[in-house]
Parts: sequence; structure tokens; C-alpha cells
Amino acid sequence: MSAFDHRKYQAFPPIKLPNRQWPDQVIDKAPLWCSVDLRDGNQALMEPMNVAQKKRLFLLLVELGFKEIEVGFPAASQLDFDFLRLLVDESLIPDDVTVQVLTQAREALIARTFESLAGVKSAIVHMYNSTSTVQREQVFRLDTQGIKDIAVNGAKLLKRYAQQHPETHWTFQYSPESFTGTELEYAVEVVDAVTEVWQPTAEHPVIINLPATVEMSTPNVYADQIEWFATHVKRREAMHISVHTHNDRGCGVAAAELAVMAGADRIEGTLLGNGERTGNMDIIIMAMNLYSQGVDPQLNLADMDRIARTYKECTRLPIHPRHPYVGELVFTAFSGSHQDAINKCLSGYEPGDYWQVAYLPIDPADLGRSYQEVIRINSQSGKGGVAYVLEREYGLQLPRWMQIDFSQLVQQHAESQATEVSPQSIRELFQQNYVESSVPYRLNGYQVTRRDDQDSLVAEVLIGTEEVTISSLGGGVVDAFVQALQPHTPQNIGVVEYSEHALGQGEDAQAIAYVQLTVDGARVCGVGISEDIVNASLSAILSALNRSPAAQQVCAA
Ligand code: KIV
Ligand code: ZN
Repeated sequence: MSAFDHRKYQAFPPIKLPNRQWPDQVIDKAPLWCSVDLRDGNQALMEPMNVAQKKRLFLLLVELGFKEIEVGFPAASQLDFDFLRLLVDESLIPDDVTVQVLTQAREALIARTFESLAGVKSAIVHMYNSTSTVQREQVFRLDTQGIKDIAVNGAKLLKRYAQQHPETHWTFQYSPESFTGTELEYAVEVVDAVTEVWQPTAEHPVIINLPATVEMSTPNVYADQIEWFATHVKRREAMHISVHTHNDRGCGVAAAELAVMAGADRIEGTLLGNGERTGNMDIIIMAMNLYSQGVDPQLNLADMDRIARTYKECTRLPIHPRHPYVGELVFTAFSGSHQDAINKCLSGYEPGDYWQVAYLPIDPADLGRSYQEVIRINSQSGKGGVAYVLEREYGLQLPRWMQIDFSQLVQQHAESQATEVSPQSIRELFQQNYVESSVPYRLNGYQVTRRDDQDSLVAEVLIGTEEVTISSLGGGVVDAFVQALQPHTPQNIGVVEYSEHALGQGEDAQAIAYVQLTVDGARVCGVGISEDIVNASLSAILSALNRSPAAQQVCAA
């Protein structure tokens, strides 16, 4: 019998909050951020960071603009203790940055925590104990009073130890761990008891952190829990409500965002969401989500490649190529219709405009990413993408009819290779299929004279192995050349489309001509490139002719 049986689980009960306010709120300013990379993130790593790695990540976090950084659990880890001492001894904590440390509510651990913080100007001491029903009943085997006593005793100890070290500016933080699995009335009761001890004021507030230690419900339920808590807790004006979400259901960021709408002031999370199990809430995603709504996230994430590199080197974790805002592929479109739309929007975008580019929620350049990677070509790509790559990389501005013709060749190539096609391969395909199409017709030379609005053209054309001199009069060289050629090819030729432009600038500039002919009713495209525009145009006509079935017949004859 299969073990896969949904009846083993029960639905998370909804919160009774008939007058909930959060759904109508809009986030219009950044929350207070606290990075827990060096503590929660670190404790989830297969290989926890060494002191050098922690220092590197700490310096990055400071540079990104974090003002509160949880640096470890010094009473539980000698390495965390030593790291904190290193920060103090090397004066690495800027005056506007507050370090935070975690401790359980036990005297020996609290004493050691204060020891680790000696000489720190400003610190947050973060005390936690688990309050959830499951932990109370099955892990601690204590009743609600017993669990509340742990928190209250811890709060008293924090206060006492802090009073012994008045040289440091202390902030107290309390987390009813597993808040999401705790009855709301009980969570409020415990927090009220803790703040009764601490007696915070609006001038010297405490932090009450409400962790989704395990994400147990949809994010709207978490938002209800936060709003319920914020509207029932005592001394609300004297506390920052902080949220600390994990990502078990994949909604860690969504839950934190809705929690801010529901009244949370502060967010704990990690860069790229590293953390226990499925991770902590990802601060980069949340900050960039704000940014994409025109809100200053108060973190500078512009050099995303460096952030990603430091993250990978410190955590030894890979980054998924589709990780929002950071992954290698998140600004890349392979699909033809997406490429087409991006291409059109990008060419219409002027700096200073609001960003409105289809399929790109933010400008990749804001994160130091280049437009080079926006459009990449495989068998799913279309004409817009191919045209974009040729223009961006090589300055070729293919007219639409030429794009249609060439993209079919690229698609066939991509399908046969079953892989992505590089810009260089695209350019080579273009060259081989059009520009180098010189059999059986090849231009050996020409002379044009213009008189009375007419071009008189004499050209030397190699047809197979025979050099033929052809001549004609016409309204332009293209017209004259086609008329001159007509008697020398068994098929009926007509010009349908023609386009040309300069390639490059200055003395080295070349001209490129694109032409579409009908040859016995079938449409064929050709391209000519030369320093001379007439040469390019005539070569384009022969390129098209060579690519037509007529050319095969001449070859075969
Ligand atoms: O996830 C959690 O509950 C924690 C607490 C210690 C805040 O990390
Ligand atoms: Zn956590």
C-alpha cells in the first residue's frame, strides 16, 4: 500500500479576524532589515562558515546597508564566540550597525552571551524559547505556565546582566519560537509577561520577533496572525514587531510581505534564502520586489554578481539559474514571442521613462547585468530574437522579411544541434547562407553611368565557368542589373523587397544590402556586403539568385 495519503494531515485552522485591515495596505517603505545569515543561515550549512568566511560575509552585509546583523549564537558555539570577539578586537562593527546574538533563556548561556559582547557599543540580545503546542506537550513536556516561566526568567536575567554592563546600548529581543504553531492568545500572554519585565518605552523599544519557524499555512493566515497579535499585545507602541519566516511551503517571502502589510516593522531573513530546510525568507527577493514597485529598499544590491559570488564562496551552496533576480537565466528569454516583445520594448525605452518592458520586471542593468544575456537563441526562439542578437552583436539591421527568412535557418540549425546557438554561430550561418552564396552567379566587376535619370550598367558576371558581359538601362542600378541578367537565366526574376544600411562608421564602414526576389514566383532572399553600396546591392541580387532553384538548374546544366 502506498504511504502517500493526504488523510494523515489536517488543514491549518483559519484565524477569526472579521475586520482584518491588512488586505488593503500597500507597502510604501522598506522595513527594518536584520540579516540572520551568520546565525540561522550558517547553522543550516553542511559545512558551517569558518571565521574568515563569516568575516567576509559580515563585511558584505555592512556594505549592502544592513544596520542589524545577527552574528551568531556565541554561547552555543566557540567559533561564533571567537568571531564576535574578532569583530570587536578588529573594530569591524561600524557605529551605525548593531550586532545581534541569539541565546536560549538559560542563565549559563545568558552569562556567556554577555561575556561575548564585552566592549560592543550597541547590541541586540535575542532570547527565544519555543511556545508551540507541539513543543510544549511533546518536547518540553511543560504546561503553558512552565513555558511562560522560562521566558519570564530569561527576561529577568537579560535585564540583570544588561544592568551590569551599562557601557553598551542594549536592545532586548524575544522570540516565541514556533509562533505559527502557538495559540495566539497564549503567544500574546507570554510576550506581555516578558515585556512586563522589560518595561520598554517608545524611546527604548524592544523587538518582538514572531517566527514562522516552520511555515504551516498560506501567507494570508500568517498575515492574520500578525495583525491579530499586533492588535492584542500590550505595549505595542514600545516594540518593533519583527517577522522571521521560513520557506517550507515556498511562500517565505510572500508571508513576510503580507506580514508587513499586517503591521510588522522588521524583517529577519538571509541573502538568497539560505537557512534551515527550505531556507529562511530571502531578503534579496523581498528588497528587489520593493524596488520593482518604486520603493527604495534601503539596501544597495546593485552589484549582484559580487553578492552572488561571495554568497557561493562563503556558503558553498549553488544558486539556481532561475533564482529570482539573481539566477543566471532570470533575465534571459529563449521563446520567440517573448524575444520579439522584449526587443520592441527595449528599442522604445528612453532613460528617464518608467520601466515598462514586457517580460522584464526590472531593468537587468540595475543589478549590473547586461542586455547581452537578455535574448539567447535556441530552437524555441523566433525572428525577433535572432534579429536582436545580430543587431546587438554585429550591427546588422535585418528588415522584417529577411528576419523571417533567416530565423527559419537558425531554427533548423538549433533543432539539428539540439542546443543553444551562440551569437557567433548565428553570424556564421548568416554569412555562409547569404553572403557567401556565390555559385553559379558571381559578380566580377561593373560600371555604372548615370544620364537623364537613368542608370546605364555594364557588368561582368561569372555564370558557372563562363564570364558574361551584361548590360542594361534602368531607373536604378538594382532595376538595371535585374533587367540585364534576365536574358541569362532561364527563370523569371523580379525584385520584391530591397533594403540597405551602413555597417560601422568612418573609413572602415561597409554597406550591406538585403534583397528579396521572386524567381519563377518563389521568394528568395540574398545579402551582399561590400565597401561599395552598388557592389553590395548587385551581390545581394546574385546571392538571392544563387539560393533559388534556378541556380540549381544552372549548376546542373
Ligand atoms: O526559526 C526560528 O524560529 C528561529 C528563532 C531562533 C528565531 O530561528
Ligand atoms: Zn529561523
